[in-house]
Amino acid sequence: MTNRRTFIKKISAIGATAPLVTNLKGESSKKDNPIIVCSRGEDWGEKVLIPGWEILSNNGKLLDAIEKSANVTELDPEDTSVGFGGLPNEHGIVQLDASIMYGPNHNCGSVACLEGIKTPSSVARLVMERTDHIHIVGKGAQNFAKAHGFKIENLLTEKARKIWLRWKENISDKDDWFPPKDNSYNNERSTGTINVLAVDSNSDVAGITTTSGLAYKIPGRIGDSPIIGAGLYVDNEVGAAGATGRGEEILRTCGSFFVVEQMRNGKTPQEACEALCKKIVDINGGTKNIDFNDKIVALGKDGSVGCASIKEKKGNEPKLSYWSKNGFKVYRGTYLIEE
Ligand code: GLY
Repeated sequence: MTNRRTFIKKISAIGATAPLVTNLKGESSKKDNPIIVCSRGEDWGEKVLIPGWEILSNNGKLLDAIEKSANVTELDPEDTSVGFGGLPNEHGIVQLDASIMYGPNHNCGSVACLEGIKTPSSVARLVMERTDHIHIVGKGAQNFAKAHGFKIENLLTEKARKIWLRWKENISDKDDWFPPKDNSYNNERSTGTINVLAVDSNSDVAGITTTSGLAYKIPGRIGDSPIIGAGLYVDNEVGAAGATGRGEEILRTCGSFFVVEQMRNGKTPQEACEALCKKIVDINGGTKNIDFNDKIVALGKDGSVGCASIKEKKGNEPKLSYWSKNGFKVYRGTYLIEE
């Protein structure tokens, strides 16, 4: 049994105009559906959620709301972990993964290793709505997107190319690639990703997870994001969960499915996210073996939210943000290990 440290709990909220306070059970938005949530704090949250909230709050379609919000990060070249501008694989090629799930019919769709298309979550939605399949990968996914009129474009921005090149030049001092003299190399490999989850005014639930995956991955590597039950899971009776961070850990715990099932069995979204973090630490033999991070966000059918990560620097609680009738709020969750 792991010698677990207690979860570090601190919850606060940042309003778009004035500070607002969420309570410790994460029930601030209860009975306030619709609600749309993203797995990032104030820096990205507000701009990502604006188009989705616009749709949801005007009684638009739930799937349109989450897709339009996910598209914001996918289309933004400044984000190096999702869509256009994402960091490439070890060969310098951007390969994107995304999934979508819709509660009312429990249907889902996903794409993986998709090259040349800026908005993989939109392609995943078409897999769900316009095919009898769930997963389409690689060239097949690209051909499917082309058939639906998507443009093939270069997804490798100058910013991402330079970061990738610096990684390549620093892999080894026994190869023929030399870093420049002013070498300012940061050896972190991002697994950024974004989850967008929502409940509409009928209390129907849906979600999207989208990513460029692990930076410099072996070509063809698929993470948790496009795997239903791992990077995303939705159950219309219960709610939704999504994961970011090291995908391999989320895959071998069926992470998002695990969280939703914990909620079905009575845990709050916050408790369910914490339960997954503890499970991941346990299967790795305890906190001493944790050299990666994962973050889980969850949304109950009643509009309650939760968020937990495995490790953070002191005072750097993992965040999610959401729009509801009460405006834009940032929710701070908990983490298990202090770095
Ligand atoms: N969680 C994103 C990935 O591992 O690909």
